[in-house]
Amino acid sequence: MSNIVEDELSRPSSIFKDESKLSIDYVPEHLPHRENELKQLALIFKVVLERPGNSQKVIITGNIGTGKTALAKNFGSQIVAIANRRGINIHYIHINCRRERTSFAILNKIVKTFNPNIPRRGFSTEELFQIMKEDLEEKNANVILTLDELDFLLRREGEELLYSLVRLFDEQLNAVQRLSLIGIMRSEDLFRSLDLSIISSLQKNIIRLREYTADQLKTILSERAKEAFHVGTITDEEIKFIADIAAKQGDARYALEILWRAGKIADAQGIKRILPEHIREAKSEIYPVIRKDVLRDLPFQHKALLLAISRTLTKERAYVTTSETEKVYKIVCEEYNIRPRRHTQFWGFLKELEKQGIIATEISGNGMKGKTTLISLPDIPTSILEQEILNLLEGVR
Ligand SMILES: Nc1ncnc2c1ncn2[C@@H]1O[C@H](COP(=O)(O)OP(=O)(O)OP(=O)(O)O)[C@@H](O)[C@H]1O
Ligand SMILES: [Mg+2]
Repeated sequence: MSNIVEDELSRPSSIFKDESKLSIDYVPEHLPHRENELKQLALIFKVVLERPGNSQKVIITGNIGTGKTALAKNFGSQIVAIANRRGINIHYIHINCRRERTSFAILNKIVKTFNPNIPRRGFSTEELFQIMKEDLEEKNANVILTLDELDFLLRREGEELLYSLVRLFDEQLNAVQRLSLIGIMRSEDLFRSLDLSIISSLQKNIIRLREYTADQLKTILSERAKEAFHVGTITDEEIKFIADIAAKQGDARYALEILWRAGKIADAQGIKRILPEHIREAKSEIYPVIRKDVLRDLPFQHKALLLAISRTLTKERAYVTTSETEKVYKIVCEEYNIRPRRHTQFWGFLKELEKQGIIATEISGNGMKGKTTLISLPDIPTSILEQEILNLLEGVR
């Protein structure tokens, strides 16, 4: 007789075999439908491996969720592994320009890979450039630097850093070219608006990623599902259903988030497989405008402000004034033991959140005393935003 107790205890309590395979930061080893682009990168960077001291510059463009980040990271880890086997000193550094918010922070991060103990303050941008150059020379190292979400840096600070990086080793005649660049951006229009000298040095190698089709999303989803779920918990029909939903945008991130959430819903209901109803529910819970990684990467002050906004609006109101919100913001800061920033900075945070498309602001029309700025939240229920932010802030208090 089989042992009922043992059977029950060894039955997996979740349909997930390994949930981390669907997390935001996981980079799959195999990227279906990006084989040609990987090959293109390999062809471009061949020279760096064969004749170290030569550098390359590449731009990758494509809409949201087309695999830009995954492509660069996957390529980076492969080329480093190959270089290591051949005894060539190549480092891959991946920097997200939305997360590292200034040129200074970006440079600091690069320098830190070689000098982990370097103090955060005390150096000018020029000095950091100099340190980076000396490090590379001294260690006979080559770097492939990816500036991801470059759109943010360019919109915030203009093109100065990019310009300096492109020129880094140029002033010395015959200097060894140790720094290769991969710039990732969504908008090719923004690239076209840059300084002509930057365009001319980068446009030789532009890789454009197209939105995924429903069929392509199907392969991607089923490979990822195999890594993340136990056998028999999802069928081709459900995979096709998700692929068709996400094919409107051609966005693999959206597709994978539906898959992950559908799994969580199935688990929460104690059902041992993903059903189409779970997918419908999952879809209704996702607000594409407010991406999980965007919220996660916001500095604490911005998160506190968003929490304040959702608490001021509550379920009852469509618009709130900045002064009401600022009062609640101060209370939130107190709750988390953080010093509230002054009004001008508060204002800056507000504008930043608006730029990222998370909130909307407008100047009040007639009917209010004087003019004031009104804040609203058109794309997500306040209760959901509040919960997401609370989850992110967990542990800060
Ligand atoms: N070809 C693929 N195979 C497997 N997974 C993929 C593939 N393309 C993208 N993904 C996955 O889809 C998600 C989104 O991809 P990625 O983050 O690379 O998009 P992106 O183009 O950088 O988007 P964004 O412009 O928003 O930064 C990631 O989880 C990534 O692992
Ligand atoms: Mg990306």
